[in-house]
Amino acid sequence: MARFVRACSPEDAERIAEIYNQGMEDRSATFETEPRSAQQIAPWFAQGHPVFGAGEGDRILAYAAAFPYRTRPCYDGVREFSVYVAREGRGQGYGRAAMEALIADARKRGWWKLVSRIFPENHASRGLLKSLGFREIGTYEKHAKLDGEWRDVIIVEKFFGS
Ligand SMILES: CC(C)(COP(=O)(O)OP(=O)(O)OC[C@H]1O[C@@H](n2cnc3c(N)ncnc32)[C@H](O)[C@@H]1OP(=O)(O)O)[C@@H](O)C(=O)NCCC(=O)NCCS
Repeated sequence: MARFVRACSPEDAERIAEIYNQGMEDRSATFETEPRSAQQIAPWFAQGHPVFGAGEGDRILAYAAAFPYRTRPCYDGVREFSVYVAREGRGQGYGRAAMEALIADARKRGWWKLVSRIFPENHASRGLLKSLGFREIGTYEKHAKLDGEWRDVIIVEKFFGS
């Protein structure tokens, strides 16, 4: 089956929620512990945030999305991103494909930086982001609790401004 990368639309909200919830259940990627619904994803589209999906056939297996980093206008070009791959699609290049589309779109919009935070134990995410040219800046120690335990997070950035 043919692979694809495309901009997502509100019709994809259900599948995006499903993929996010798998990452959340795996406790590898977020401090959130409450599953998200399609209704919580839908505003991403209404608010104009970029969301790209990668997959095979007609099935999305990964998505990458970016959101404002701060509300102050000076930070308009800095966006926080997230990338999630469905369990069955991990390690097959879908995360990379979705991220490449997101980065290309961010450049086109005139944004200059993508940032995020990663759990230190998330070697797949650290490997993916390093290979895409992200820099690990440092570690926020004991940033928040997940399941009652303090967890560190590594801050990453990629600058592509001119
Ligand atoms: C982390 C995640 C996004 C990576 O996406 P992926 O589609 O599995 O990764 P890809 O197949 O595109 O791999 C791209 C690169 O990432 C790195 N990578 C991927 N999996 C890896 C692993 N298990 N260990 C180390 N590096 C890894 C490699 O550098 C790889 O390059 P290569 O193909 O030349 O070896 C995905 O596994 C995932 O969604 N996990 C659960 C949720 C999550 O952790 N999200 C990130 C939140 S910050």
